[in-house]
Amino acid sequence: MRLILLGAPGAGKGTQAAFICKQFGIPQISTGDMLRAAIKAGTPLGLAAKQVMDSGALVSDDIIIGLVKERITQPDCAKGFLFDGFPRTIPQADAMKAAGVKLDYVLEIDVPFEAIIERMSGRRVHVASGRTYHVKYNPPKAEGKDDETGEELIQREDDKEETVRKRLEVYQAQTRPLVDYYSQWAATGDANAPKYRRIEGMGSVDEITRKALAALSS
Ligand code: AP5
Ligand code: ZN
Repeated sequence: MRLILLGAPGAGKGTQAAFICKQFGIPQISTGDMLRAAIKAGTPLGLAAKQVMDSGALVSDDIIIGLVKERITQPDCAKGFLFDGFPRTIPQADAMKAAGVKLDYVLEIDVPFEAIIERMSGRRVHVASGRTYHVKYNPPKAEGKDDETGEELIQREDDKEETVRKRLEVYQAQTRPLVDYYSQWAATGDANAPKYRRIEGMGSVDEITRKALAALSS
């Protein structure tokens, strides 16, 4: 299984990716998590990406495309993979097409913008694994601690309300066009086109997981 999870910041891509990846036994390729790991490790990539990410803008296509192309050659990707937060520009999608990366599905999670600010302000993450919680909607077993490792959870730098608004603008301008890009490609009946599925992302985490898995078997 090779798929893209598409959706606005805070739509629940990371949350659902964990369940989908477990179900299909595939790795989650989150460009956001990869960039945050680089920041934490203090690599040149991390140093270059930090300011851009904290401002809510996008890291350059060249850097991201290079990262992903390298990642998908690794042995754990032989059975497939899930792209979370990638592609998020037309050039990134074109680069995958040009490289002949065949995808089975594009799954869009649709959440109204009004719900997103609340989701982001309550989000807590375990940086090392990318596991995501919400203080109200998806709380960890012990407050402020990761369920599996017991390590500290943090709040993301870019989850400040002002930055979230900027990220939503960037989504509308640069990533939302991928909805048409992939749904129109699927409609052409091209055998290389991934199937396009859209689900509503409002409801409990379990409910959305059920809808996602149903969409991926249709
Ligand atoms: P990235 O890390 O990809 O962030 P994003 O796309 O903005 O998405 P989020 O991680 O904020 O949201 P999500 O959909 O994963 O939601 P989550 O499951 O966490 O990117 C960060 C930055 O990196 C970008 O701004 C950019 O600078 C750079 N970058 C990354 N990829 C790039 C690329 N390809 N090109 C260029 N730049 C790139 O859920 C959110 C919250 O809601 C959580 O607290 C969760 O617990 C809660 N929640 C989830 N589901 C539910 C539910 N059903 N009900 C209630 N609450 C829920
Ligand atoms: Zn995420």
